[in-house]
Amino acid sequence: MNEPGRAIPAILVEDARKTYPGSGGFLSRRRPPVEAVAGVSLTVERGETLAIVGESGSGKSTLARMLVGLVEPTGGRFEIEGRDAASLRAAGPRAYGRAIQYVFQDPIASLNPRKTIRRILGGVLKRVAGLAEEGARAERMAELMRAVDMDPAALDRFAHEFSGGQAQRIAIARALAAEAAVVVLDEPVSALDVSVQAQVLVLLDDLKRRFSLTYLFISHDLAVVEAVADRVAVMRAGRIVEVEDGATLFRAPREAYTRELLASARRLDG
Ligand SMILES: Nc1ncnc2c1ncn2[C@@H]1O[C@H](COP(=O)(O)OP(=O)(O)O)[C@@H](O)[C@H]1O
Ligand SMILES: [Mg+2]
Repeated sequence: MNEPGRAIPAILVEDARKTYPGSGGFLSRRRPPVEAVAGVSLTVERGETLAIVGESGSGKSTLARMLVGLVEPTGGRFEIEGRDAASLRAAGPRAYGRAIQYVFQDPIASLNPRKTIRRILGGVLKRVAGLAEEGARAERMAELMRAVDMDPAALDRFAHEFSGGQAQRIAIARALAAEAAVVVLDEPVSALDVSVQAQVLVLLDDLKRRFSLTYLFISHDLAVVEAVADRVAVMRAGRIVEVEDGATLFRAPREAYTRELLASARRLDG
């Protein structure tokens, strides 16, 4: 229950767990179960950007995918703006999609290759945002394209006709189309050229202010995290080892593991 007078966080995660079952045996190589997320609790306040940073395989994507309903949790509690994920799921994809949206690392793969951008955005506007009227959808699509600095004329093209940066702008427009206030960004610029990364980060920051969004921003890249995060959670082997506001974490990390992570990033930089 929420205490009276206390703001409801945009995201609340309590003791999230995911163990992927093992497999194999006869004829195939046996794979043991993997405890990808081993008891994670966190909150993200409305309007905040919480970054999750950690090495590859630390469980970041699994945590994100449980939150947006793409991976079935082994355990834990997930709330989006005070609404339990289980009840959102029971209310159907429209309720879930209006509460929280997801932007993936590989933008071109995340857009259906057989549909024009108009059909992709139109589908979300119709099914999730509930815009029944075609004229209203067309108008909204043009608005969304302009919001991500794309020419509305591009609506009649297919995902593979765009560069990675353009495709990621379109994937962001698709997330905006659902009108969700909470967006999970899983390595949203990691697949892009460095110059394009900076442009997309500026766009994300601009959209966050304009539409009062909350971001859960996942990245293995500390330079990106430093640029975007209000607070940073450091994840290692399925657990959060340290949560700190960005300035403190980068200036005075408490945990030895965080210091190692920062030191190795600085070595790579130069
Ligand atoms: N569908 C899956 N089946 C089995 N194991 C998985 C699956 N997805 C991820 N894993 C394993 O779970 C661990 C965490 O992966 P992931 O959440 O993708 O981490 P990250 O996003 O931090 O790189 C890794 O050991 C990975 O191999
Ligand atoms: Mg990942």
